[in-house]
Amino acid sequence: MSQNKYYITTPIYYPSDKLHIGHTYCTVATDALARYKRLQGYDVMFLTGTDEHGQKIEDKAREAGVTPKEFVDNIVEGPRGVKDLWKLMNISNDRFIRTTDDYHVAAVQRIFKKLYENGDIYKGTYKGKYCKPCESFWTESQLVDGKCPDCGREVQDAEEEAYFFRLSKYAGKILDLLENTDFLEPRSRVHEMVNNFIKPGLEDLCVSRTSFTWGVPVDFDPGHVVYVWVDALSNYITALGYDNDRYQDYDKFWPADVHIVGKEIVRFHSIIWPAILMSLGLPLPKKVFGHGWLLLDGGKMSKSKGNVVDPYILAEQFGVDALRFFLMRTFPFGSDGNFSNELLIDTINRDLANDLGNLLSRTTAMVQKYFGGALPQGCKTWDAPESFDAELLGMASGLREKYQDAMDAFAPHKALEEVFRVIQRANKYIDETAPWALAKDMDANGARLAHVLYNLLETTRICGVLLTPFMPGSMDKLFAQIGAPEQARTWESAAAWGGLPETAAVTKGENLFPRVDVEKALQELEQAAEAARKAGLPALETEPLLEEKVDFDTFCKSDLRVVKVKDCQAVKKSNKLLKFTLDDGTGTDRQILSGIAMYYKPEELVGKTLAAIVNLPARKMMGQESQGMLLSAVHTEKGEERLNLIMLDDKIPAGAKLC
Ligand code: ME8
Repeated sequence: MSQNKYYITTPIYYPSDKLHIGHTYCTVATDALARYKRLQGYDVMFLTGTDEHGQKIEDKAREAGVTPKEFVDNIVEGPRGVKDLWKLMNISNDRFIRTTDDYHVAAVQRIFKKLYENGDIYKGTYKGKYCKPCESFWTESQLVDGKCPDCGREVQDAEEEAYFFRLSKYAGKILDLLENTDFLEPRSRVHEMVNNFIKPGLEDLCVSRTSFTWGVPVDFDPGHVVYVWVDALSNYITALGYDNDRYQDYDKFWPADVHIVGKEIVRFHSIIWPAILMSLGLPLPKKVFGHGWLLLDGGKMSKSKGNVVDPYILAEQFGVDALRFFLMRTFPFGSDGNFSNELLIDTINRDLANDLGNLLSRTTAMVQKYFGGALPQGCKTWDAPESFDAELLGMASGLREKYQDAMDAFAPHKALEEVFRVIQRANKYIDETAPWALAKDMDANGARLAHVLYNLLETTRICGVLLTPFMPGSMDKLFAQIGAPEQARTWESAAAWGGLPETAAVTKGENLFPRVDVEKALQELEQAAEAARKAGLPALETEPLLEEKVDFDTFCKSDLRVVKVKDCQAVKKSNKLLKFTLDDGTGTDRQILSGIAMYYKPEELVGKTLAAIVNLPARKMMGQESQGMLLSAVHTEKGEERLNLIMLDDKIPAGAKLC
């Protein structure tokens, strides 16, 4: 029997920086959808990857003093890079494409040439507004307050010889595709595309650049590199083997069932990509779904806003599955949502620790306590069901259908809402049936108690099956605790009550979702983020040399002398200042105050030979006079300022002039 096929993709990420929780959101969502389809029995191809060309990466590599390829290799393949992150997050992609892969580069060159030979690419002059961080060209009318409509940053006038793709030629067909089919979802995104881009007049698209070299070279016109979108979007077909020999899956998997993309790149996927495919004479993907953004305090995500957004830190602190679950449960997939660490912890505590965790631990503990870990034969049936028995059975048996409707509508948050409605119902059922009361008289109530516990195990099992795409690792453990065999973990088994064998071996295992102490967790997160920040800092930093010159006479005006420390005391009520009594060779003691108490103990400085500038005007600090300044060397190590007093050879007499 031939299996149904399903091809699903994430956007390919720019490895210009480490990925944050917003990027993780998109990949986790796509992973949950891919796992859902596999659970249903589909033969799934799930593609992700990295989009590695462009000026931004060329610039960043230059700043870092490495080649662009070395730069992206480090972020993609290096420690705690993109590939490591997807492994940590249990992302089940079947393929990973890098746009610097040879087969992709060669295929993009051929695709570009085909578009050119079809007459859809022509040479012209590009004049326009260019947003460097977004690598996007904009027309004057698309700017918002004169700035980039995506990121709000300044745009620059740009003019250069470039190739253009005849996007305008496809305007009518694209309008029809968007308005008259369900190609693009959610529907609100269709209005955005039509009103902002198509109705004002679709302009031809600049598809090559000469101002940077880090890109796929146009082989028939040296000096031009393919501008990012033809390169990036083609990944969806080259990764299947289109126009290359690396893979042979194009015929099997194209057209894609869905491209999952963030809202700011919907334009590229729903207008430009179909037009390129139309020009190549290839079938269009069946759907583009534009999800919303995770925001921080209502704004775009960045690293420094108080909330920890590093997915590594969050996953290490709370567990991969808790993080995956939170992302999918909390934010309606098509809309923006406000991310916060508090919300993450609240969700874990409410849904996972309280609702699911309690249901599992109470149920398994009771099967252990009252039946030694296995219920008796016959516990599945009961001939005098109460209304709440029927209600629980009805809800659990009908859950898969509701869940499926939500998942098929790209609403994983709704699917999870349905599952948790049943979990909450099951917890209420425990209160209604009061198993501990039944257990008081096992002779009279043992059979009823066994039935109640079976209902709870079975509800847990059904919910477990449907939660598997979201928390695969934890659900394996849950199934082990309730003794669910393989055939009771399948999609089919989730729609049929009674899949769990009556005498399944139940064990009370580890607590899958421990409660999180909010204060403590927030503090630990901050500490972990600070440690990661420091680890990422250069080991040693010194201040850049001053550009401005100083003339010799001005320099000579500073009277620098050798001084000997006769006495050194901490200044009372100050945790910074030390008071020095110094021999400066004049025969009169000199007093200097110096803010170095964090670096030295006073007693260790007595007797040392130091350098000081002695003709600064005297000034008062904490009520005491300071007659000059001791010279020291300052640098930064792993983000912390370090200071060393300049110590001189003790042979040098006090008062010797430094020059
Ligand atoms: O756009 N919340 O790459 P990218 C939700 N290379 N999603 C977010 C997000 C946030 N705070 N921040 C980013 C690119 N994303 C191109 C794609 S596809 C042929 C080329 C999402 O690394 C963003 O919306 O800038 C996008 O879908 C994805 O992360 C990759 O973003």
